[in-house]
Amino acid sequence: LSRGLGDVYKRQRKTCNPRQCAKRPIPLANFPTFARVSTHYTPYYTQRHLHMRRIFLIGYMGAGKTTLGKALADLTGLSFLDLDLFIEGRYRKTIRQIFDEEGEDAFREIERRALHEVAEFEDVILSTGGGTPCFFDNMTYMNSVGTTVYLQASPEALTERISLCKHSRPAVRHLDGEALAAFVRDALTRRTPFYERAHLTFDVERLATDNDTNDAAHRLQQLLYGKRGAPLNSSPTHSYLI
Ligand code: S3P
Repeated sequence: LSRGLGDVYKRQRKTCNPRQCAKRPIPLANFPTFARVSTHYTPYYTQRHLHMRRIFLIGYMGAGKTTLGKALADLTGLSFLDLDLFIEGRYRKTIRQIFDEEGEDAFREIERRALHEVAEFEDVILSTGGGTPCFFDNMTYMNSVGTTVYLQASPEALTERISLCKHSRPAVRHLDGEALAAFVRDALTRRTPFYERAHLTFDVERLATDNDTNDAAHRLQQLLYGKRGAPLNSSPTHSYLI
């Protein structure tokens, strides 16, 4: 199952302009089917000392899950996969189309199934949707099969970032100004208890430039692996050796 991620990852990197929106637009016609691709991206020498092989990045929209996930993948040699893009490739529809045509409940069911599917991959950084941890037993599930990292930022910072890239986000695309800010504050209040169940919390308040992103990726790598590259055991109930 881990076959194929390399191509997806490289394609995502090639088609994304991080200044606009980290993960859009991806032409669906170009999205590879997993049967077609065969190379694995992770080089052998990095695999040898990486013990945490499945990292879930969680957090609200605009937290930088995709941007930081890609930078961390570059740094660690792990593969990168964005859950929303995986869903879009599988269903040949944008997230927005799925919301519009089938409704949020159907999307959450699709998302849950996709989460279980991608969690079969190993040596991978998975960026989840902002709502993923808050439905079904998704948070418990992610905690049991990998290392979860909550990317935390203030409602103000998130609102600002979302407003730059909201067309593809069904929940917020009609909102502006104070209405958007109030929506984000309210959603964060409801979702934070789920996010806070992550193994690790990582501050992403500042993520405006490429330098910020690189710096954050280095800090996150250190948080995950420690200075000597050894896995940290920050959760008393989970082992990072999956
Ligand atoms: C959602 C977040 C989106 C996407 C969908 C719903 C949410 O993902 O899954 O639009 O409910 O917060 P991002 O957080 O990657 O934008």
